[in-house]
Amino acid sequence: MHDIQIKTERLLLRPLKITDAEDVFEWVSDERVSRYMVYTTYTNIEQVRKWLAFVENDASTYNFGFERMLDGKLIGSGDIGFNPSKGSWGFGYNFRYDCWGMGYATEAAKAMINYARTNFGARKFASSHCEPNIASGNVMRKCGLHFVGYGKFEKLDGSVKMRSMEYEGEI
Ligand SMILES: CC(C)(COP(=O)(O)OP(=O)(O)OC[C@H]1O[C@@H](n2cnc3c(N)ncnc32)[C@H](O)[C@@H]1OP(=O)(O)O)[C@@H](O)C(=O)NCCC(=O)NCCS
Repeated sequence: MHDIQIKTERLLLRPLKITDAEDVFEWVSDERVSRYMVYTTYTNIEQVRKWLAFVENDASTYNFGFERMLDGKLIGSGDIGFNPSKGSWGFGYNFRYDCWGMGYATEAAKAMINYARTNFGARKFASSHCEPNIASGNVMRKCGLHFVGYGKFEKLDGSVKMRSMEYEGEI
């Protein structure tokens, strides 16, 4: 687990903890949020605790909880990590539904990218989203990435397959 904390105008990006399970469950159990994520909609909080335990020991990726500084509420999570096979840094994010459309994803993604640039010398970034997930593409463009082509999206359990839109950027 890392101990990185990043402050933006409205958010505190900090490590996820097992005690975040109830807050996380609120959005990972919401089909509107999980639809275009690789995970399938969570149905009980134990599954979230297992995932958080995995994240705590995952050295390959920097996972963050996104805490709204105004009231300390955890409203989303995301990650950034180096992908050796691609030679670039990948990132992702998801937010509870009632917090969409307020610029939070752009704010969090830019903060993770800036942190990786400054502290790890990261320059090449890549990410992708399911074709219908226009909002996510907007976030990627606002972070300085550009569309490079179509790819394939598949949920971890193989239950959903669809076309993805791939983005890259040297920032
Ligand atoms: C994708 C997601 C993270 C976007 O979060 P957000 O905080 O609403 O994004 P932002 O507010 O930063 O919006 C970024 C841009 O997309 C636009 N946008 C937001 N929702 C949109 C929508 N439904 N359709 C089209 N554009 C949209 C915003 O207007 C903004 O552009 P603008 O600044 O030019 O107005 C959020 O919808 C989410 O959590 N979805 C479920 C999980 C998910 O799909 N994650 C991404 C997987 S690749």
